Amino acid sequence: MNEHNDQKFLEIQGVHQSFATAKGEFVALRDINLTVKKGEFIALIGHSGCGKSTLLNLIAGLAQPTQGTLICANKEITGPGPERAVVFQNHSLLPWLTCFENVYLAVERVFGSSARVGGKSAEPKAKLKERTQAALEMVGLSHAMYKRPGEISGGMKQRVGIARALSMAPQVLLLDEPFGALDALTRAKLQDELTQIVAQTQSTVVMVTHDVDEAVFLSDKIVMMTNGPAATIGEILNVELERPRSRLQMAESLDYQRYRKSVIDFLYTRQAHVEKQA
Ligand SMILES: Nc1ncnc2c1ncn2[C@@H]1O[C@H](COP(=O)(O)OP(=O)(O)O)[C@@H](O)[C@H]1O
Ligand SMILES: [Mg+2]
Repeated sequence: MNEHNDQKFLEIQGVHQSFATAKGEFVALRDINLTVKKGEFIALIGHSGCGKSTLLNLIAGLAQPTQGTLICANKEITGPGPERAVVFQNHSLLPWLTCFENVYLAVERVFGSSARVGGKSAEPKAKLKERTQAALEMVGLSHAMYKRPGEISGGMKQRVGIARALSMAPQVLLLDEPFGALDALTRAKLQDELTQIVAQTQSTVVMVTHDVDEAVFLSDKIVMMTNGPAATIGEILNVELERPRSRLQMAESLDYQRYRKSVIDFLYTRQAHVEKQA
């Protein structure tokens, strides 16, 4: 891929999204324009109900925009694809399968006999197993591979969800509040792990969050959304903190505090009382 494409790896152009509801048309998103570079880590932040998941689902190809275009690696997004793997807040694992089997299912669908398109041949079973193990190892779950979701903690379930996404070797990792349901310590640990994994895989990441610290700690860019209805991008903050970032350093960094304050100011001052402005 040439440099030009890398600069515009993911492009969202003039996206509007409305839904037909019992009370008539509901405009969720308007005028969304965003360009993401290859390897960039983007956080989408905004108040609950502003349309973060709606936007992520559009990138995932799980929904089609009412207007506008989404492009990934020079191809229009017209549906879900293994090059764009999603991790949801509620892990969505199959409870009757082991962690290994949950991940293997995704690997088989992308690299196995069930879904080889474009003339590529299916990989042998041993190779599929190897991919599955490698993904689980990357999230530190080798020891729990043969446990079922009901036998492991919430943090571990989210790790399996991340392993499943990584196992597809996606070009873009889409995360919808993946750590939202976890306690603060587990969340911090998984954030640290995620930064290490992304540094290793060089994935492009779009992560939905409503946690200011999570956004600043992880991202290269924070895309701040206005309140709905008809939400749009209010501001984009470039986070120019050196990597690797350590939690301890961040706690003392004035730059970190400044970024944090900008996001808080946007969320709680400028977007706090949208009803009054409207
Ligand atoms: N399929 C749908 N039909 C009708 N309204 C929807 C649908 N999906 C989302 N919405 C509405 O769009 C708005 C944005 O939702 P969502 O993207 O889930 O917000 P967020 O993830 O930021 O909390 C909300 O008001 C929600 O009720
Ligand atoms: Mg959401």
